Amino acid sequence: MKKHIIGNWKMNGMQSHLTEIQKIDEIAALFDNIMTGLCVPATLIYSAHKDKKAVIIGAQDCHQSKEGAHTGCLSAAMVKEAGAKMVILGHSERRQDQGENSRLVSQKADAAIDNNITPIICVGESLAQRESGQAEKIVSEQLLASLPSNKPQKMIIAYEPIWAIGTGKIPQMEEVREIHEVIFRLLTQKYGDAANDYPILYGGSMNGENASELLKLAHVDGGLVGGASLTADKFAPILKAAS
Ligand code: G3P
Repeated sequence: MKKHIIGNWKMNGMQSHLTEIQKIDEIAALFDNIMTGLCVPATLIYSAHKDKKAVIIGAQDCHQSKEGAHTGCLSAAMVKEAGAKMVILGHSERRQDQGENSRLVSQKADAAIDNNITPIICVGESLAQRESGQAEKIVSEQLLASLPSNKPQKMIIAYEPIWAIGTGKIPQMEEVREIHEVIFRLLTQKYGDAANDYPILYGGSMNGENASELLKLAHVDGGLVGGASLTADKFAPILKAAS
């Protein structure tokens, strides 16, 4: 499987940053052995996806319903029409800030799949959970409860330990390997051989320095990158490490 390197721009990016996306696209085009993606704010999806050579544009959320009285929300069909080919779901920031639970994430994943958008389902433990030896249990529970109702054709899982997001800290390589193996095992139990087609990404302070070691680990099929995806200068070394 191709390595997947996907940027999550979170609540960053104005029209003036489209030139940076253009630069990232040009660099991504040099690495045709990598699937490069950028999940941008909804306001940028349309302009960001136009005329891109290599980079695939995604959204950062979608509503679980098809349409209706949901002020301020966007349906999967809407983000798809704007140009998104994938959507991040259940990021820990939304689980915390918007109180999203795994059942809702699963419903959103169904909505994404119904609209032919690849869900990127995020799971990860807090520092307290890691320190009390519960990381594997928490990630397993979150994962199983967040998966879509039916076997999807395309799906991406992202393991993001909450305490590694934006902190510059990453787990021990062995800890990352263990959790990715657990995720792969659970996916295999549920979906059989199809599990080989679902990339499992690591997210949390991935950068040009730690990427190559992380990306060498078994079942680390790529990265979901926050801060280091905001500029071509910082993103390029991660693409290089993945190539
Ligand atoms: O979704 C990516 C993210 O949460 C990781 O953020 O800034 O630690 O790379 P960052």
